[in-house]
Amino acid sequence: MSHTLISSPLQGFTDYRFRNALQRHFGGIDVFYAPYVRLNGKLEIKPVYERDLNPKNNLDCTVIPQIMTNDADEFLFVADYVKQLGYKELNWNLGCPYPMVTNRGMGSGLICNAPKIDEILDRVHAESDIIVSMKMRMGYEHPLEILDVFPLLEKYPIKNIGIHARIGKQLYKGDVDLDSFQRCLEHTNHKIYYNGDITSVEAFKELEARFPSIDHWMIGRGLIADPFLPSMIKANTTDYPSNRMELFLAFHNELLEEYAQQLSGDKHIILKMSHLWEYFELAFEESQRLIKKIKKTKKLEDYQNAVATFIAEESLIY
Ligand SMILES: Cc1cc2nc3c(=O)[nH]c(=O)nc-3n(C[C@H](O)[C@H](O)[C@H](O)COP(=O)(O)O)c2cc1C
Repeated sequence: MSHTLISSPLQGFTDYRFRNALQRHFGGIDVFYAPYVRLNGKLEIKPVYERDLNPKNNLDCTVIPQIMTNDADEFLFVADYVKQLGYKELNWNLGCPYPMVTNRGMGSGLICNAPKIDEILDRVHAESDIIVSMKMRMGYEHPLEILDVFPLLEKYPIKNIGIHARIGKQLYKGDVDLDSFQRCLEHTNHKIYYNGDITSVEAFKELEARFPSIDHWMIGRGLIADPFLPSMIKANTTDYPSNRMELFLAFHNELLEEYAQQLSGDKHIILKMSHLWEYFELAFEESQRLIKKIKKTKKLEDYQNAVATFIAEESLIY
């Protein structure tokens, strides 16, 4: 079966700069969901979202914008905005687990409110021709919540539902609940994409064997931790290219250059890169000491030297 690999968005990480660098250096991702657009009560698109969705900034990537809202007017406003930019689809986030979001009945806090979901989908389909897809968890409190939503979703031509096989209460911790994901497959006619903990080729293969009907896979944190992952999944190999560290450095340097242009001051640039290292380090378990040094630097020059030392030492291993 041919697999479609989707970059599952990470707000603060998978912006257009990251997407372009990933695409240029590694490939393997077919579609990128952009991190969500959220309006804070005003029908107004913030410049940061404008830049991220601007087609000129996304020339080499297939991007699908995402919204997080519990309001039909907001949905329609953003649908109109992205349509003007040339997008045909808007993905709806019903997965975000953070209390600041869920307490306001958004993200995974909206899953338990089937009538609200129905009302929003009804208006969106009546008033717009935007293609709607959804990204959900299986619930906030328990993984059966989604089963009360599936029947109403049958009324709408939802393109697909990406399901992160956790509940909101778990945040990003604990295991994915594959039995509950299986139950989801049995309770909907909609096209389901799998999401959660695809962190290695081996993990992917286990999921592929367990869910033979799934052919769309969403990779979130695993993509940042190991940007080689999608192309290795596609090539069905667990072997990294022989110049792994050279390729990683080129990718890293492009991100550094991009963020240095965007941000001012060594501190902000290093902080941004350090956030990425929180994920990169997962692929280099034996080099925590060197990575700690990278994250502790204060001047860009020291940062670059620390990265160079790390790459040199790792090149001896890989
Ligand atoms: C820091 C962070 C930011 C995220 N931002 C978004 C987002 O903007 N939209 C979204 O649908 N999911 C978001 N997610 C969830 C991921 O897309 C993904 O669903 C989740 O991490 C599970 O997949 P994974 O195990 O492959 O990472 C975010 C996750 C993290 C850790």
